[in-house]
Amino acid sequence: MTTVSSALAPLHWHAPEPALRILDQRALPAETIWQHCTAAEPVMQAIRTLAVRGAPAIGIAAAYGIVLGVRSGTQFDADLAQMCAQFAATRPTAVNLFWAIERMRVAGARTAGQPRPERLAALEAQAQCIAADDAQCCADIGRHGAPLLPDRGGVLTHCNAGALATGGIGTALGVIRTAVAMGKQLHVWIDETRPLLQGARLTAYEMAADGIAATLMCDNMAGHALKLGRIQAAVVGADRIARNGDSANKIGTYTVAVLCAHHGIPFYIAAPTSTVDLQCPDGDHIPIEERGAEEVTDPQGVRFAASGTAVFNPAFDVAPAALIAGIITEEGVARPPFSADLAAMVDRARARLDRRG
Ligand code: MRU
Repeated sequence: MTTVSSALAPLHWHAPEPALRILDQRALPAETIWQHCTAAEPVMQAIRTLAVRGAPAIGIAAAYGIVLGVRSGTQFDADLAQMCAQFAATRPTAVNLFWAIERMRVAGARTAGQPRPERLAALEAQAQCIAADDAQCCADIGRHGAPLLPDRGGVLTHCNAGALATGGIGTALGVIRTAVAMGKQLHVWIDETRPLLQGARLTAYEMAADGIAATLMCDNMAGHALKLGRIQAAVVGADRIARNGDSANKIGTYTVAVLCAHHGIPFYIAAPTSTVDLQCPDGDHIPIEERGAEEVTDPQGVRFAASGTAVFNPAFDVAPAALIAGIITEEGVARPPFSADLAAMVDRARARLDRRG
């Protein structure tokens, strides 16, 4: 099985204390700083500020944060409800957050009537289960997705959908890692991913850590690289996949999808079924987070634009289903027109989780 260095694991649960240790991704790659969270509020703040980021990772962080919050209270049910509401307000787009919160709510409700220590233990076990499941999902996504990549050639990715964003080897980067482990000779083309540079700071760091050949470029260079024939496939992660397959991911993903369509290059989404929102009919119904102007005017704290400049800073956009060649999940590869495949995959994943309790 493909693995990654534990240095790339963004979350560590320290049960005896208990505490959640969060790798502060804002400081990478220059510095490795761990936040030691013994209460829920610092975990919420880490999610809001992107110290922990990436759809599956914020779901896992919220699950552990809920454990910390409920433990420190006295009214299990009221505290659990309050924690679920507060974590749900941290970031709006990645549905994995709401999926993990719902699993925690159900785990808590299932223990109604039991003594408090047992209820707390059940919550903690559920958070650990969410983390372990995500690691397995990444491995399975890698297994299903790797055969889709060419035996040799360039693969474009955008943002960071790697180990740093998940509980395992990553989704898009999990596919790439598994393909490389199978012997495919791939060269990864990394969009830097303005404004917060998740591609430059995080994906390039992960590829270097694994010794996978990679080239970094500014976002506006991808079209030229495609035109030069350097790229044979694209694979990115997702924050929310609507029922029809429209997929929200980091801002700039739409541009990549359009460019790939223009050049006849297959564009794949890699995400666990926890990213699929069957309640959401299409991309127009996906809430898109807008973040502060300073991320654009003062990247990394350095003033780039005149003060007072008006700014548009959506954190995500939507790749339309019509431009997606396949959606790679832990249950297999969904193909256009997507709705039937996605619904069946979500059903299978739910049945698997129900069997585990
Ligand atoms: O704002 P971020 O850094 O949380 O955005 C992350 C992304 O857009 C990722 O591509 C997505 O969450 C998938 S992570 C496996």
